[in-house]
Amino acid sequence: MKSYKVLTVCLGNICRSPAAQGILESVATKRGVFLELDSAGTAAYHIGNPPDSRSIKALHQVDIDISRQKARQVTKDDFHEFDWILAMDSENLFNLKKIQPKNSKATLVMFGEFNDQAKFGEVADPYYGGDDGFAEMRKHLIAIADAFVHHLHSNRED
Ligand code: 4NP
Repeated sequence: MKSYKVLTVCLGNICRSPAAQGILESVATKRGVFLELDSAGTAAYHIGNPPDSRSIKALHQVDIDISRQKARQVTKDDFHEFDWILAMDSENLFNLKKIQPKNSKATLVMFGEFNDQAKFGEVADPYYGGDDGFAEMRKHLIAIADAFVHHLHSNRED
């Protein structure tokens, strides 16, 4: 069976991209699509830290455990390692494009591109807000993850 290596990327790698990783794992398993997943941040602020407790809690509420993830910074090598690099917002995408090598194996896109509702184009950064923002983030990530896994499933070559 074909598998895909997928890296989710946000700024700090403690709120959105770890949540996206956990949600993609869950959605892909349910749909029978095999993904090898990791997440990273464009910034180095939180290297080695677990996800933000508010992200852990929001995901725990839907039975997804992201508590064992550890933050890391994205590297140029990631562009040779992964099939897909999924940016959470346009600033992440801009910063990723700056370091993307010319012979990148990875397809670099905004994650929200896979959901046709325009308001899902960017996954808003919930870091400076309250629990509502984390619930909203979870809702957007679930909708986009569903659309992304559907895209992989319908374009598979097995
Ligand atoms: P994330 O959220 O990019 O979704 O992980 C943030 C986490 C930390 C910071 C900003 C955004 N920060 O400035 O420390």
